[in-house]
Amino acid sequence: MRKFLTRSLAVSAVALLALGTAACGDSEREGSSSPSGAAAKGFAADSLIGVALPSKTSENWVLAGDLFTNGLKDAGFKSDVQYAGASTTVADQQAQISAMVTKGAKVIVIGATDAAQLSTQVKAAHDAGIKVVAYDRLITQTPDLDYYIAFDNFKVGQLQGQALLDGMKAKKATGPWTVELFSGSPDDNNAGVFFNGAMDVLKPLIDKGDVIVGSGQKDVKQTAIQGWKAEGAQQRMDSLLTSTYTAGKTLDGVLSPNDTLARAIITSVKAANKPIPVVTGQDSEVESVKSIMAGEQYSTINKDTRKLVAETINMVKALQAGNEPTINDTKSYNNGVKVVPSYLLPPVIVTKANAAEAYANDPKLSPLTK
Ligand code: BGC
Repeated sequence: MRKFLTRSLAVSAVALLALGTAACGDSEREGSSSPSGAAAKGFAADSLIGVALPSKTSENWVLAGDLFTNGLKDAGFKSDVQYAGASTTVADQQAQISAMVTKGAKVIVIGATDAAQLSTQVKAAHDAGIKVVAYDRLITQTPDLDYYIAFDNFKVGQLQGQALLDGMKAKKATGPWTVELFSGSPDDNNAGVFFNGAMDVLKPLIDKGDVIVGSGQKDVKQTAIQGWKAEGAQQRMDSLLTSTYTAGKTLDGVLSPNDTLARAIITSVKAANKPIPVVTGQDSEVESVKSIMAGEQYSTINKDTRKLVAETINMVKALQAGNEPTINDTKSYNNGVKVVPSYLLPPVIVTKANAAEAYANDPKLSPLTK
């Protein structure tokens, strides 16, 4: 049970962290099964499919919108793809989902802008017989969510934590290593999942004193960057450097939950004329892949948006045909009300050493690794 909540509830997870979280064994991800319940009835092949995405806080979301528009059209569906705006994100997304229900969508795919603020809209969709799929970010506090499809985001955090250690060890074989921790936006359920995945790897070393959090800010609330905003990360890094890294104190590494924040952290360090520490990331953004190849950012994660959107469209096609979509996890992602049947894809850690291999099939990123 602890494992489920660790993955799925950003807030409770903080408390659970204090209890010490268990590593998630591979057995959790094995097997393929269908969730219980009757198969969907199916619907017309040219039905409307709604896609409600959050604001464009990273390149993956921009890409997802285009891929959904084109992919759903190619599959014969009508689509309504919407983004939450930059400021009134929650209200925007709530209104967009309500409009999709009114327009008669048969499936609504949601990349939640605020995990816990959609239960009314998800219930309205469910009551209208619409299937609701949480895309990339889990929707919490609702019994009405049908499926979750994502790269395994707890695993993302574990890979980030391990990359941080590997990068620091490569520079300085033995500890203690001094680090700072950053996490994403508190309203995004993934932020806590990434942080807990990373802490699953780092906490034992912090407890032993091999890894020292220089500022002492180890709680997800202290490390959070509202709205995943680059300027928020840059400001926090500026103030950490001033408060903690004066008088020759070295910062060996920074846990950054994604590439946008990683580059902001590196900008801050450079402006302070300090050596660049090992900085993790996520999303394989173009500028971060360039930075990795230039030896600045240490790592990123490849969560290939093309695959995730294609698998989501496969899920929609299965529902259209009246079949249960493929599910490969019925244990890991508890949304506070129920364990949501999930289809999880494996994320890949990328450093300079494996970038060429990791992006070999990506025409946009592959040339950057040559
Ligand atoms: C996604 C990350 C992304 C972040 C900010 C998260 O929910 O999983 O890939 O970096 O949102 O956009």
